[in-house]
Amino acid sequence: MSKKIGKVKDWGSRTGRKSKSETKTPSMELSNLTTEALEDLLQDPVQLLSSLQVILEKRNSFKEESPVPLKKYFQTKHGKLFHGSCFELLNTIEDNSIDCIFADPPFNLAKDYDNGTDDKMNEADYLEWSRAWIDLCIKKLKHGGSFFLYNIPKWNIPLADYMNKKLNFRHWITVDMTFSMPIPNKLYPSHYALLYYVKGEKPNTFTPPRTPIKTCNRCGQEQNDYGGYKNKMNPLGINIRDVWSDIPPVRHAKFKNRDANELSIKLLDRVLDIATREGDLVFDPFGGSGTTYIVAELKNRRWIGSELGDCSVIKERFLRIKEEGDRLAESREALNTLFTDKALQIRLKSGLGFKNYNISNEQIERVLAKSKNKQMSITQ
Ligand SMILES: C[S@@+](CC[C@H](N)C(=O)[O-])C[C@H]1O[C@@H](n2cnc3c(N)ncnc32)[C@H](O)[C@@H]1O
Repeated sequence: MSKKIGKVKDWGSRTGRKSKSETKTPSMELSNLTTEALEDLLQDPVQLLSSLQVILEKRNSFKEESPVPLKKYFQTKHGKLFHGSCFELLNTIEDNSIDCIFADPPFNLAKDYDNGTDDKMNEADYLEWSRAWIDLCIKKLKHGGSFFLYNIPKWNIPLADYMNKKLNFRHWITVDMTFSMPIPNKLYPSHYALLYYVKGEKPNTFTPPRTPIKTCNRCGQEQNDYGGYKNKMNPLGINIRDVWSDIPPVRHAKFKNRDANELSIKLLDRVLDIATREGDLVFDPFGGSGTTYIVAELKNRRWIGSELGDCSVIKERFLRIKEEGDRLAESREALNTLFTDKALQIRLKSGLGFKNYNISNEQIERVLAKSKNKQMSITQ
């Protein structure tokens, strides 16, 4: 026992000297344990081994689980959807073959996805289930491929800790959106966490779009003061931040494809813009209403996906892909420009104009024409 304690002492580098164990070793992972847990384990190493065995068995049991046999449901020009469990599908995918993974798993909030699974596991089981599919996903991801995990902060804190051990952390993106009712004695939950990782040192693709200056919907005034830098600003807009406040929730029945959760096409458009190019292979293990697959198809990315529950919603959505394309094109008008046309029209009306900004003649002419047409239709 004393020998072990001596080894533990060697880990500490409080003196600033480089210790041998500063390189990543399996024992380094144990440093995540609380001091109390470490002390307990040293008291009873046999207990430690049996606990490790239980965890591993649990994790592997999820990897083997498959409630329905996997079956190809439909195929499009760019992708394939499978009805069945992502675990089974993942086992058929070639290692190191996927360019980008986007996963929006059930949040273990007791939602009824009508797929025969339990969305209210105990916390430890939910985390083991998550680690099991994350492991498989990482195996299938290409070197330089990107992995996005969308979840509530409660789960993404421990899952980020797990992913940090296997991938390179790039961002915790805050997706600003109210997602539940206010909770007594708590702050109002108003953001999702979108974890962004890369396998290996650098992403193969990192091409974030630029976004417009935020302006007041009524007068067009800038919400931030750019002072004397206005004419030096990139005419394509500002650098995208890691707080996304412009992603609309999909709540309106007119746009919703099913009762359960559905993400905005704008969110997936941004993710795929950042981390993929045309022809890349995108994998989403949790199909839902098929948002990832629709956006991938529209952006000429190859895609593959699985859904355990009803897949007909996704198939029907593909029949209306033209409408989805129109909506996507509309939301993309607000990309790679310093001001949207609409914001410039408002500024024109309230006398703020385009002054001091570097705006293309083409956009000025377009906005002037739009404003003139609007004026004419009002006076006619
Ligand atoms: C939060 S929803 C995904 C919503 C989706 N991102 C969208 O925008 O529509 C999670 C989905 O995962 C499905 N699911 C749960 N476990 C699964 C598994 N093991 N394999 C495949 N799909 C699963 C559920 O049926 C549910 O539809």
